[in-house]
Amino acid sequence: MVSEFSVRAASVEDAPCLAVAERETARTPGLLRSTPAELSDVAFATRIEQLESPGMRGRYLVAVDARGALVGHALLDPMPLIQCAHVFRLTIVVHPGHTSRGVGRVLMNALLAWASEHERLEKIELLVRSTNARAIRLYESCGFVAEGRLRRVIKLPSGDYVDDIAMAWHRIEQ
Ligand SMILES: CC(C)(COP(=O)(O)OP(=O)(O)OC[C@H]1O[C@@H](n2cnc3c(N)ncnc32)[C@H](O)[C@@H]1OP(=O)(O)O)[C@@H](O)C(=O)NCCC(=O)NCCS
Repeated sequence: MVSEFSVRAASVEDAPCLAVAERETARTPGLLRSTPAELSDVAFATRIEQLESPGMRGRYLVAVDARGALVGHALLDPMPLIQCAHVFRLTIVVHPGHTSRGVGRVLMNALLAWASEHERLEKIELLVRSTNARAIRLYESCGFVAEGRLRRVIKLPSGDYVDDIAMAWHRIEQ
């Protein structure tokens, strides 16, 4: 099936829009690790510059709809230490109002296609809140497996705790 969404490399000009969408997402407790105040436009621009600069240390993609409007973003960020340089960290956020319409799958497919071709990348890691069934189902369907549980690592404004699940994708197992 042809998706109504397409994917392109992020540009620094996208940063304010991505930051707004992620801050809005972060207003719902239990989805992201960050709170809205911890997500600055500058940090988004810096990350895009780092990952999409010539030589491409990693990958920072955005999903756009048929009109070119941004509907999601996802990135693979390599770990800095030499002995972990084969491991990349994944982040994905489909923008509010656009979830459960296939955007997440389009972004994951594009990132994993890039990962499969990247000479250094062997493993992708992510952390997902244990209560985020939608995200866990997407990751499992893309070949990610649970590798551990970080108990009571998130403390919500309500005072309730949430665990994180550490999941990973190993190229050798795909
Ligand atoms: C989690 C997230 C990335 C999934 O992307 P999405 O665009 O909403 O999901 P898609 O429509 O592409 O669906 C992909 C899969 O996710 C799962 N899924 C999607 N919507 C779901 C829902 N409402 N309930 C349960 N599972 C759901 C299904 O397994 C689905 O596969 P299928 O269509 O073959 O059944 C997206 O919802 C999101 O960014 N949410 C807010 C931020 C967040 O939770 N980020 C992840 C932090 S670790």
